Amino acid sequence: MSHHFLEVKNLCFSYPDGTEALRGLSFRLEHGEAVGVVGANGAGKSTMLLSLAGLVMPSEGSVNLGGMILSKNTVGEIRRRIGFLFQDPEDQLFMPTVFDDVAFGPLNQGLSASEVTARVKGALGDVGAVHLEDRPTYRLSGGEKRAVAIATVLSMMPDVLVMDEPSSGLDPRGRRLLICLLKKFSHTRLIATHDLDLVLDVCPRTIVLHEGAVAADGATEEIFQDRGLLEKCHLELPLCMKGEVH
Ligand SMILES: Nc1ncnc2c1ncn2[C@@H]1O[C@H](COP(=O)(O)OP(=O)(O)OP(=O)(O)O)[C@@H](O)[C@H]1O
Ligand SMILES: [Mg+2]
Repeated sequence: MSHHFLEVKNLCFSYPDGTEALRGLSFRLEHGEAVGVVGANGAGKSTMLLSLAGLVMPSEGSVNLGGMILSKNTVGEIRRRIGFLFQDPEDQLFMPTVFDDVAFGPLNQGLSASEVTARVKGALGDVGAVHLEDRPTYRLSGGEKRAVAIATVLSMMPDVLVMDEPSSGLDPRGRRLLICLLKKFSHTRLIATHDLDLVLDVCPRTIVLHEGAVAADGATEEIFQDRGLLEKCHLELPLCMKGEVH
C-alpha cells in the first residue's frame, strides 16, 4: 500500500516524570508530501516522530496511517510501513557489521539472499558508504554511523519516511547525497531538523513546533519570511536567506 495519508489529531504525550512534551498536535499529510518539522531544542519534534511510529504511545489523540489507526494491535504493521530514522544512530544500529545492520530489514521482509545483497549495496551506495560494508558498526565515526543508519531505513524501501535530524553529523558530500535522495523519494517524507537550508531545499511545507504545540503549518518560504514567528519559536533564518530579510 503506497497511497498513504498520515493524519494526526489532538496528539498528547507526557513522559513518566510529568514533562508534557506534546500538547494537542493535529495535522494531515497527503501521499507524496515532503514536510519539514522545525523547532527549538525541546520543542517536541523527536517525541512527535516517536509517537507516530508508536515508539512512545500517545496518551490522547489519534494517529491514522492510510486508514489504519495506531493502537497496540496495529503498531507492528505501522512500524513496518514507516521507515524511521532515530535522532541518535546508536538507537538504530545493533548488529555486528554494517552489512548485517543494513540487511536486517530486508531479511525480515523475507527477501532472498541475492535480493538482500542488492538492497544493501543499493542503500549503501545511496549514502556513499559502500566502502563501510564489512566494518564493525560500533567502530564507525559519528557521520559514518549516521550514513549507515540512513541506509538501514532505505534498504527497507518504506512507504513513508520519518527522519529525525538526518543531516546531523554528515559532511558536505554526505549531506548533498542525502538531499538528492530525499528529493528523489516519491512517497511521504516527514523530516525533523535544525538544518533549515535542507528544509528550504527539500520540503515545500513546514510544521513549526513550539513548546509541544503546532505554532505554524504552511508553505516553507512563507514561514521562513515570518520574523515574528521565527523569533517567538527561537528559530533563525536559513543561511541562504540571511540578508534577504531585514
Ligand atoms: N525521556 C524523557 N523523559 C522526560 N522528558 C523528556 C524525555 N525526552 C524528552 N523529554 C522532554 O520532552 C520535551 C520534548 O523533547 P524532544 O526530545 O521531543 O524535543 P526536540 O524538539 O526533539 O529537541 P531537540 O531539537 O533537542 O532534538 C522536552 O521538554 C524534553 O526535555
Ligand atoms: Mg529531537
